[in-house]
Amino acid sequence: MSKFFHPLMHNNFNRSDITSVKNFLDKSKILTSNKKVKEFEEKWSRWQGIKYSVFVNSGSSANLLSVSYLKTIYDSGEIIVPTLTWSSDISSIINSGFKPVFVDINLNNLGAIEEEIIKKINKKTIAVFLTHVLGFNCLSSKLIKYLKSKKIILLEDCCESHGAKFNKKRVGNFGLISNFSFYYAHHMTTIEGGMVCTNNKKVYEIVRMLRGHGLVREASLKSTRNKYFKKYKDLNDQFIFSLPGYNVRSTEINAVIGINQLKYLNSNIIKRNQNFNYFLNNLDNEKYLTKFNLNGVSNYALIIIFHKKFRTIKFRSSFEKTLKAKRIEFRRGMAGGGNQLRQPYVRDYFKNKKHEMKFFKNSEIVHFYSYYIGNFPSLTKKKIKLICKILNNVN
Ligand SMILES: Cc1ncc(COP(=O)(O)O)c(C=O)c1O
Repeated sequence: MSKFFHPLMHNNFNRSDITSVKNFLDKSKILTSNKKVKEFEEKWSRWQGIKYSVFVNSGSSANLLSVSYLKTIYDSGEIIVPTLTWSSDISSIINSGFKPVFVDINLNNLGAIEEEIIKKINKKTIAVFLTHVLGFNCLSSKLIKYLKSKKIILLEDCCESHGAKFNKKRVGNFGLISNFSFYYAHHMTTIEGGMVCTNNKKVYEIVRMLRGHGLVREASLKSTRNKYFKKYKDLNDQFIFSLPGYNVRSTEINAVIGINQLKYLNSNIIKRNQNFNYFLNNLDNEKYLTKFNLNGVSNYALIIIFHKKFRTIKFRSSFEKTLKAKRIEFRRGMAGGGNQLRQPYVRDYFKNKKHEMKFFKNSEIVHFYSYYIGNFPSLTKKKIKLICKILNNVN
């Protein structure tokens, strides 16, 4: 059997991460959320260029807390969301009692189509929850300006896009709240983990409480805590549950890994972007799309979308058979496996009302005819060239 193997992720958790955890465990007694979590939040905020960050146990928990924050302001309403996203972007909307309203995506940045968002905004719209897919920025000045003028809240899912930029600023700095994931396969990892980011102190206070059971003692400001202590004199200060919250905290161990991973995040992003460029330059542009909007990109997985002529089940079978034979791990459909409208949890939510897939043309293309494969910093040009040769020879 051939020795060649190209996994989805490689070496994302390395020797120095292990050492950092060992050193920490040797000296520390408190392992639940404590000083290291705070330190990671501060270092992440500095890296991201944002005021406040709240470390949670996954990107999905970050999504849940962001939408739960909206629930503290609105009882009901519509939230616009792309069909190409992760399930928790949509399930957090459904589970919080809001209605998801779907828009299709562009093929050049895999983000929601601006004109469709604007068309679907109405009196019931409370927020737009965008996803920066696979390291692409999906924001535009026009959209940001429009949402501001209509006082519609912008949430950014940056779980796949650490370090991606719009107008020279990192994505995740444009919405009221932004979410990141540190799942093993992403730009950086805490094994499992996520971050909620905001520049708004009130949002920060509420998200901190929502993260920890809704407890008032989780708020960062004495003034926030005192307000409740004074109002609820019949309650013990330690046990005032201000909001219907969750427990989605992480641990000191995960924070120690995050702090260490941050040290090489920038250099990894540079290497991965170089790999992505080299990959696109060596890919057959008659078979696969190679012209993406690369402004501000921060890639972590190599993207393959079939060109129009090759969008057939026959070519797809041959493509998958070749990749399996050559031991190249792949995922079909990008973020969340493609068009979320096809998933049972969305179909069940809308019951008899079916979405017409013809209105989500590009999500359908991604769903049936797109893939991603691993892109890691240690990948060599030689290996990328070999992978491209394999892909280019599929017939
Ligand atoms: C766009 C996007 N949002 C949210 C998530 C959820 O992150 P997590 O796996 O950390 O829950 C993912 C997961 O990969 C994702 O790709």
